[in-house]
Amino acid sequence: MKGVILAGGKATRLRPLTWVTNKHLLPVYDKPMIFYGLESMKKAGITEVLITSSDSHLAQFINLLKSGHDFGLKLSYAIQDDAGGGIPQAIALAADFSAGQNILVLLGDNIFDHNLSTAVSKFEGKKGAMVFAKRMPTESKQYGVVELSKNGKVISIEEKPEHPKSDLAQTGIYMYDRRVYDFIKKLRPSKRNELEVTDLNNMYLNEGTLVCEIMEGLWIDAGTSYDELLRANNLVAELTKGALNK
Ligand code: DAU
Repeated sequence: MKGVILAGGKATRLRPLTWVTNKHLLPVYDKPMIFYGLESMKKAGITEVLITSSDSHLAQFINLLKSGHDFGLKLSYAIQDDAGGGIPQAIALAADFSAGQNILVLLGDNIFDHNLSTAVSKFEGKKGAMVFAKRMPTESKQYGVVELSKNGKVISIEEKPEHPKSDLAQTGIYMYDRRVYDFIKKLRPSKRNELEVTDLNNMYLNEGTLVCEIMEGLWIDAGTSYDELLRANNLVAELTKGALNK
């Protein structure tokens, strides 16, 4: 399986921090945010990764990460012309890169410690899509919200609903089969004028091939607000120092 890390978007919620730099290059404790996604890919057993970003920022990623050699990864890069055109638009850039293989997609502002290697091995060559959810008891409505049946089947996913049907946030971790590019071609922009990953996942749900895994441990969408960015910094600092003191 190949990997894709999305590092585009407009990051309006983090301005003025993001007026001249890209959100995924901001520090989270002792590293730029993008490093965490690369480490998660490595832990998942993925060695070839495509990074997507806007034309004005991609050169900074190349400058920082180069071939990926220092991370034990082979990196490729793709420009998303319309930086805020939507998550599926960025995923579509991986069509040639993935060369018929399934893909693991990570949103570059998601920081987590769940090891994806078992899920990746199981999904290798499989038909369908997989999403990862995290219990967020008080704040699920600022994310995509996943509703599961008692036996763990996905019933619905809604993007930032006013009245969430569960406390399960859809995280920025997704796996798709090779047909994802055909599904994306059928998507239409939402009210906020972008292609939505939730609409894409609902296409698999309607087909009956969407599965969901609930994640334990740390998960932060560090791009939602200054407070979440600060929380990510503090939590990662605690975990890193804790690990060093062991
Ligand atoms: O983090 C999880 C959430 O991510 C999910 O719960 C939501 O269902 C999903 O829509 C998404 O919501 P956000 O509002 O957090 O998306 P945001 O616009 O912040 O973009 C998420 C990441 O994707 C971020 O790392 C930037 C990247 N991105 C985003 C857009 C819109 C791109 O690379 N290109 C884009 O066009």
